[in-house]
Amino acid sequence: MPVATETTPTPDPGLHLAGRYDRDVAVGIARVWENVLDWEHLPALHNGQFHSIALLDSGSWGWSARVVNQPGDESRAQIITVRIDRAAGRYCSATVEGPGAGTEIWTTLTPLGTDRTAVAVSFHVAEARPERLARIGERYVEIYARLWDEDEAMMVERERALAARRSVSRDGVAALNLGPVESVRASLPRLVEFGGERFRLLELDGRLIAHAATCPHWLGPLGETPVVDGCIRCPWHDYAFDVVTGASTDGRGLTLAPAPRVLVEQGDVVVCR
Ligand code: FES
Ligand SMILES: [Fe+2]
Repeated sequence: MPVATETTPTPDPGLHLAGRYDRDVAVGIARVWENVLDWEHLPALHNGQFHSIALLDSGSWGWSARVVNQPGDESRAQIITVRIDRAAGRYCSATVEGPGAGTEIWTTLTPLGTDRTAVAVSFHVAEARPERLARIGERYVEIYARLWDEDEAMMVERERALAARRSVSRDGVAALNLGPVESVRASLPRLVEFGGERFRLLELDGRLIAHAATCPHWLGPLGETPVVDGCIRCPWHDYAFDVVTGASTDGRGLTLAPAPRVLVEQGDVVVCR
């Protein structure tokens, strides 16, 4: 089954339409294209659907990757190619090898405003028997509803985080008094705004610390991620950080924004530079 290319901008005519899925998302089309090209988020954000991904190739045309859907399912890995046609507002996700090889999923993106995009997806498969085709279509609609829910939540939060970052004042920041130490301890972990940035205040081995609650990669939310062995992992692309030093713990080299100091002064917790 040939993979769709820029010269074949429609589904393979030998395939059968299994179903369609339509919705709007509450972000502009630039944010959606960014998400489409972001192969790395699949196993982190969509961990119910993807277990691991290894990039094979990428460029302005799209990307190709080896994807494993479930732990221990290496032998059933798929090669997936996503080819985009920005001018036409359309892209095709084709399964090139592995289970479902030959399947093409076509998505059309239509801008509805600066913060709204219409998404229209159609699923094209080799199966021709009507009953099976209908079942495959239903399953795809169910999966895509969940994937787009997860993507929309990520894109909306990223948009919010980008806007917040643009409005941050670089002026001097006054110390923040959070009140009596016992009541602060009882409220942990908690988020605090300091100098226009969000930090999570928590107690680690009896010590009060703060760490950046925004990921340095794509501004993913780090305010609710569990702390395991002193490390946190971002829910968007799984980058990992030491909460005390902010250093990368997965070799990917990014560092958390410097956290403010957390002091106890005259019985009060004070956050300051
Ligand atoms: S935003 Fe990508 S790992 Fe955090
Ligand atoms: Fe996604």
